[in-house]
Amino acid sequence: MKEKINKLFFNIFNENDNIKTFFSPGRVNLIGEHTDYNGGNVFPCALSFGTYGAIKLREDKKVRMFSSNFEDLGIIEFELDNIKYDKSHDWVNYPKGVIDVMKKHGHDINKGFDAVIYGNIPNGAGLSSSASLELLIAVMMNTLFNFKIDRVTLVKYSQEAENKFVGVNCGIMDQFAIGMGKDDKAILLDCNTLEYTYCPVELKEEVLVIANTNKRRGLADSKYNERRKECETALEELKENLNINSLGELTIEEFEANKYLIKDEIRRKRAKHAVYENQRTLQAKKALGDGDLKTFGELMNMSHISLRDDYEVTGLELDTLVEEAWKHNGTIGSRMTGAGFGGCTVSLVKKDNVEDFIAKVGQGYLNKIGYEASFYIGNIGNGTREL
Ligand code: GLA
Repeated sequence: MKEKINKLFFNIFNENDNIKTFFSPGRVNLIGEHTDYNGGNVFPCALSFGTYGAIKLREDKKVRMFSSNFEDLGIIEFELDNIKYDKSHDWVNYPKGVIDVMKKHGHDINKGFDAVIYGNIPNGAGLSSSASLELLIAVMMNTLFNFKIDRVTLVKYSQEAENKFVGVNCGIMDQFAIGMGKDDKAILLDCNTLEYTYCPVELKEEVLVIANTNKRRGLADSKYNERRKECETALEELKENLNINSLGELTIEEFEANKYLIKDEIRRKRAKHAVYENQRTLQAKKALGDGDLKTFGELMNMSHISLRDDYEVTGLELDTLVEEAWKHNGTIGSRMTGAGFGGCTVSLVKKDNVEDFIAKVGQGYLNKIGYEASFYIGNIGNGTREL
């Protein structure tokens, strides 16, 4: 792949020398959905597919970027001294955002660059192609300018770019999983404290299967921000009686004893999901550590039900994929992953049954939805790095 991306650089910019090549993964979340911005735990891993980039510094302050995923847009140019969000610059707004945030934090990015990008994360699939690109750029800048910024800070800068520059109010899970991922490990991250633990995912007879609904969706124009708001309001209502800063601080018992404070049925359901999902995530981490995949799978299923009924972020396509998976005897657990409203599911499936699983779940989905789902084997890989 390194050769392929360097060749792309040559084809676009006609240069061979002093090019550095980087890779940044996508991510899949095993459990702990819509808990990050509620101060709870998440349990994601980095994937073996992601975003590749080749870069070379320039002597002036011009930046030129090309992505073979957006060939039609051609080479997009901007000046380091004049970084502004520009709708027509499309995907380049993510790199711009990261550079802008790094500069605002005092890191002197004083030379422009040429870069080419190629990604094999399916676009809009909820596997975090945007966070993957953000970390790619952050690590590129850190390496090329020798800033020596620690990785968690780069993760925070990337999230800040997405929140403030691109205008998507995401939590920290995606950037953290991508920046901090490790081969064959899931990361239990407490999004309140940013304390984290690596947990081995030692699957011998099982595999993670990612299934893409292929439904078009955009995080920015989804109901994501609405859910955040509902949880914030519920938290304010609970604070009347409780001395807490996030829903993630609550045990199930505390929530049940105080939920009457939340004045609206919908908000009560949203908060219930956040609290129960957080506890499920801790239980799932323990089950995985104990090698108890049966319990892990059951928790995945419960997570989906909660996201469907209480958080209401699934929809017909995700529900169909998960219900078809539940019908299959090779399935240990299955749930939607990521923000929802389309995107992907993740299923834990017995290795010997994978082909049949893909065939049957795929057929069931096609019959009901009218177009095909895509399937990938989710191999867990390392975080963003130079190749
Ligand atoms: C998106 C956001 C994350 C997280 C998930 C839901 O992927 O970017 O921060 O909130 O949705 O768990």
